Amino acid sequence: MLSVYDLSISFSHYSFGLKKREVRAIEDLYLQVSAGQIMAVIGQSGAGKSLLAHALLGILPRHALLTGSLFFKGRPLTEQRLAELRGREIALIPQSITSLNPLLRVGAQVARAARLSGVSKKKVGLAVHQAFARYGLKDDVAKLFPHQLSGGMARRVLTATATIGKADLIVADEPVNGLDVPTAKETLAHLRELADSGKGVLLITHDIEAALQVADKVTVFWAGTTLEVAAADNFREGGRLRHPYTRALWNALPTNAFLLARQQPALTPPGSPGCPFRLCCARQDSLCAERAPKLRNAGQGMVRCHHA
Ligand SMILES: Nc1ncnc2c1ncn2[C@@H]1O[C@H](COP(=O)(O)OP(=O)(O)OP(=O)(O)O)[C@@H](O)[C@H]1O
Ligand SMILES: [Mg+2]
Repeated sequence: MLSVYDLSISFSHYSFGLKKREVRAIEDLYLQVSAGQIMAVIGQSGAGKSLLAHALLGILPRHALLTGSLFFKGRPLTEQRLAELRGREIALIPQSITSLNPLLRVGAQVARAARLSGVSKKKVGLAVHQAFARYGLKDDVAKLFPHQLSGGMARRVLTATATIGKADLIVADEPVNGLDVPTAKETLAHLRELADSGKGVLLITHDIEAALQVADKVTVFWAGTTLEVAAADNFREGGRLRHPYTRALWNALPTNAFLLARQQPALTPPGSPGCPFRLCCARQDSLCAERAPKLRNAGQGMVRCHHA
């Protein structure tokens, strides 16, 4: 349903002396999402997860420069096509609850999303009622403005907004952040239901345990690139994970060795030729310093490492 190849996103910055400098936030990023599948994207803060989500919706900031190929249902995602599909066939559950319009009652916002994505005028009232009920929101909440909601309520309203219509691809950016455990479980279960009904779901999260509750596959991001794609089952067992970073993430889980994973990526200098992960890697050697590994097929998944 969705394919992303060689995606790079950079920003122009002006430094001292008004010198223009390009900062690369995403490089050589790869992603596939199939119909009927939940693809989890995991990675630590700053890995480029939200930028990817914004690229898929065509809502990157104006000063962002994007290169690479994006395909949706087999056809290129051009700027014009993105504008047509946004909210209709591709829906976003945004990471920030400030994405709600502060001047519009939340019921009206959810109803507007439903109409945009093809729910008829006659059925919109019922659809809003059902969407609210699904996410544990009372009908009265519809009359409130966003500032009158708690953080968790606002997040549930955002999820209702993105899932009420007929969008085939749901991009969920941290949809369970700040939710209590039962509500988070329900939200994840609903994303699973949407996938089982034939939709593609991109579940972006830094919470691996949450992702593994429902995902079919996991794409691992690090410093703006894809390091590994693995079946969720490989994560559940651990032994079949290939990349040193993915293994470190697995070992950091409380259910496993609970070892500390390095929090901040030690970035290689811009433009340096080797593997971007090498300064964090215990297995690095001269080959890693010479040449950046390409993402390659490995078993049922993919990995970007010379030694995996
Ligand atoms: N508008 C912008 N201008 C310049 N740099 C940006 C902009 N938006 C994001 N970035 C940079 O891009 C990188 C990736 O940001 P992004 O928001 O995608 O991270 P993330 O993986 O979603 O992190 P988190 O888990 O904290 O949400 C960061 O280094 C960030 O500073
Ligand atoms: Mg983010």
